[in-house]
Amino acid sequence: MDVTIDQSVFRENLLNGKTAIVTGASRGIGAAIAQKLCEAGANVVLCSRSADAVGQIADMLQDTGYTALSMAADISEKADVETLIEKTISQFSQIDILVNNAGITRDMLLMRLKDEDWDAVLQTNLTGTMYCTRAVLRPMIRQKSGRIINISSVIGLMGNAGQASYAAAKAGIIGLTKATAKEVGARGITVNAIAPGFITTDMTAQIPEQSQQQLLELIPLRAFGHPEDVADAVCFLASDAARYITGQTLQVDGGMVM
Ligand SMILES: NC(=O)c1ccc[n+]([C@@H]2O[C@H](COP(=O)([O-])OP(=O)(O)OC[C@H]3O[C@@H](n4cnc5c(N)ncnc54)[C@H](OP(=O)(O)O)[C@@H]3O)[C@@H](O)[C@H]2O)c1
Repeated sequence: MDVTIDQSVFRENLLNGKTAIVTGASRGIGAAIAQKLCEAGANVVLCSRSADAVGQIADMLQDTGYTALSMAADISEKADVETLIEKTISQFSQIDILVNNAGITRDMLLMRLKDEDWDAVLQTNLTGTMYCTRAVLRPMIRQKSGRIINISSVIGLMGNAGQASYAAAKAGIIGLTKATAKEVGARGITVNAIAPGFITTDMTAQIPEQSQQQLLELIPLRAFGHPEDVADAVCFLASDAARYITGQTLQVDGGMVM
């Protein structure tokens, strides 16, 4: 029996009528997530600290015919996060999907790590993720549905020399994901994390060529990931196909950590 499925129609309808917020959407993984969510039919609010940079990505998506809005917000600032959520609700009346993607690195061996660098990484990557998550819970509980997807990292699972702050923050995100999943599961909200491996973006561009080659040998699929690889996993977790999955960490790492 021949079964033909129109893949493009399936993808376009996957998230029709849903409203999503993507933090850190001005470039790299966040920009790819925003684009894929738009392609799947969602209305997307893109945020980053730079109004210009995130505005350019939103304009590009709008020019393609998608509903995309940009808002400048620093997720490490509670007031910015509250404004982001309020403005999204007043614009779209609901928040169905939150993707906590914004993140920074300030790499240094622990012996030489400055307090301010530790604080900045924890405040943005972990506390910022908590601020955004906490702020969407009330509207999602009211709706009796919601999808929260936190971008962690394989570094949060395996650690890495020179990345104590980043590893601690990304491991913290996994704990936050599990605790929140347990708190809100009965309200129809799922909370999951994605742990990307080595994805080619500005964040990984500074890694010296020689180290990149060594890293490649640790990856069974023998390739670095692309932002779209992470974005596809986000779309899956945001979709109805993932309705019975919560509290999990999905690795998108070419098999690097297992
Ligand atoms: N690339 C990888 O290999 C990899 C691997 C594992 C995990 N990840 C994680 O994936 C996420 C995205 O990484 P990426 O490689 O795409 O990084 P990136 O290219 O450096 O982009 C980071 C994004 O976050 C935004 N951002 C940073 N601080 C922010 C803040 N306080 N408030 C709001 N937005 C903020 C940046 O925009 P502004 O500068 O305009 O604020 C930018 O849009 C991060 O959480 C990262 O830790 C990446």
